[in-house]
Amino acid sequence: MGIHFGVDYYPEHWQRDRWETDAELMKEMGLAVVRMAEFSWHKLEPQEGKYDFAWLDDAIDLLGRYGIRTIVGTPTAAPPAWMVNRYLEILPVDREGRVRGFGGRHHDCQSNAVYRGFVRKIVTAMAVHYKDNPNVIGWQPDNELGNSHHDLCMCESCRKNFQGWLEKKYGTVDRLNEAWGNAFWSQEYNEFSEVFTPGITVTGENPSAMLDWKCFCSDLIVDFMKEQTDIIRKYCPNHFITHNYMGFADKVDYYDLGKELDFVSHDQYPGGFFADESHGRGDILASTLDVVRSYKNKNFWIMEQQSGITGWEVMGRAPAPGQLSLWSLQSVAHGADAVVYFRWRVCAMGTEQYWHGILPHSGNPGRRYYELKEMIQKAAPLMEKMEGSMPAPKVGIVYSFRQNYALQIQPQNPNMSYTEQIQEYYRAFYDRQIPVDFVPDDGDFGKYKLLVAPLQYLMNSELEERYFRYVKNGGHLVLTMRTGVKDETNICMTDRELPGRLSELTGSEVLDYDCLRDARVSAVFQNESHTARNWCDIITVKEGAEVLAVYASEFYAGEPCITKNEYGQGCCYYIGTEPDEAFMAALVRYMTDAAGIAALGNADEGVELAAREKADRRWIFAMNHTDRERTYSVDSSYRLVYGEEAGKLNGYEVQILEREDLR
Ligand code: GAL
Repeated sequence: MGIHFGVDYYPEHWQRDRWETDAELMKEMGLAVVRMAEFSWHKLEPQEGKYDFAWLDDAIDLLGRYGIRTIVGTPTAAPPAWMVNRYLEILPVDREGRVRGFGGRHHDCQSNAVYRGFVRKIVTAMAVHYKDNPNVIGWQPDNELGNSHHDLCMCESCRKNFQGWLEKKYGTVDRLNEAWGNAFWSQEYNEFSEVFTPGITVTGENPSAMLDWKCFCSDLIVDFMKEQTDIIRKYCPNHFITHNYMGFADKVDYYDLGKELDFVSHDQYPGGFFADESHGRGDILASTLDVVRSYKNKNFWIMEQQSGITGWEVMGRAPAPGQLSLWSLQSVAHGADAVVYFRWRVCAMGTEQYWHGILPHSGNPGRRYYELKEMIQKAAPLMEKMEGSMPAPKVGIVYSFRQNYALQIQPQNPNMSYTEQIQEYYRAFYDRQIPVDFVPDDGDFGKYKLLVAPLQYLMNSELEERYFRYVKNGGHLVLTMRTGVKDETNICMTDRELPGRLSELTGSEVLDYDCLRDARVSAVFQNESHTARNWCDIITVKEGAEVLAVYASEFYAGEPCITKNEYGQGCCYYIGTEPDEAFMAALVRYMTDAAGIAALGNADEGVELAAREKADRRWIFAMNHTDRERTYSVDSSYRLVYGEEAGKLNGYEVQILEREDLR
């Protein structure tokens, strides 16, 4: 059906006699799908074992008559009060040992056997009930898994599960003691049944235990969802299954979760009430969409796209005219094959009374409805044509949940953040109008001319080998500070100098380093003075390696800061610090030129260029994230297919250009 649009709909919050008006308005707007029911457990099972799907059947049928298909959400993010009261043990326990109560959502322990029993039963009942419904096309198990589970759950059931997970991983308790370095501070265990979940301690934590705990929590979420997807696949083999991710959120390894899904979805809230100065910042939004595409190396859906002011207790800014359309088309530009808005009509009750939808409280269509309707209708023919197209960047940035976990546990410099550093690299490419993919560390490196792998802190021989192979075959690889520091169990490696075996690839060794805290160090790159932040590796170059930048202050003034080494058919850069924005921009310009990577075009600040392609066609989206007039230029072989005056963008305007003879 081409790239299409839809909405998250909660008919159970409104009177029945309104439903038909909603369906008519949705159809007029050009919406093709709705997602429903992901929080309505009580409405679907008002009493233990008594299911009532009639209201949902009616809503699905009514929308179906207007040509609108349904994605059914399983309601397991909101266990009802009858269940919680009868089986108090399903409530989650936090790090401090406190039981979290009923009254929000996700008040559940995902390892609890009683809860899992209820989950299996309702998901089975729903799958059996909807398997042959012609208006149901797919499923979303639960909602934003991991979102509400920070530091949860540390109940007895989770402790037992954690012990079992460790036993499976290590086999014997001696191996566990060794892997965690338990000789330190007398932390040895005699049996797996002695292992604690990492609750609040008097002082300090064991980094290896913390890493396993984070990985266990991620695996538990994957297992929790898999139980649902297995049931749905059994009864509904013709329906798709997806799940709504949250960009760079890290509680669950999204690559792992994606293995159970047909495609991933994402919830995009550019101006969330939680947003700070990054409100609507194009590069942050773009990086989020690109990382979502990487989770299955495939196009995705937006299951919740902001459609008005966001807010619970406090509110965010009102999206200006044009901004909702801009954000929708930006999602498409980065690989969304459907954009589903959250939500249809702002709710009158409950926590989300101020999280606005397409329609206001009154239910009367207003500015947001008409803006999106116009955009959807204008874009429709093009959306049809673009089906099957996808972004195809030549730059990859390696993104790993395990590296992120290890660096969260010990950031070393408190100002250092794995995802922030990833986004800083991303931004430098974004500002040059060069598209980027993210890629897992076991992904296909070979399709990138330039591969940036920041903070490869945990290292194993297999990953080392993959980097050697990539460079040997002609790739340009970027490695950075804190590479090869630790083994897989988060213990420092001692049999070599940093960055370990990879020093053969970098042509350098790191014999000393400085953690800068808030200090800044100057560095010189291409005769320009720049700023190094957070960390400085003091690099010793080996024969043959080239020094690209040197430090210009501190006791290591004159020592190398960035090196480049030719190896096989390719080369490897080593960046011993966190360059600031201008330094990063200069460096990325140098590296992309050296790798022969061209920009999509030129554009004023605040304008983003992004592309989708298939066969011999490419579409470039030119997107103005500012409220002022801006200009851009692309190769003259592109012709304008969406927008008014090619090259000139009004505030928040999007133009789309097409080229048909790529190859
Ligand atoms: C999302 C969530 C929705 C809704 C929305 C607004 O994170 O999936 O259910 O809560 O935020 O708060």
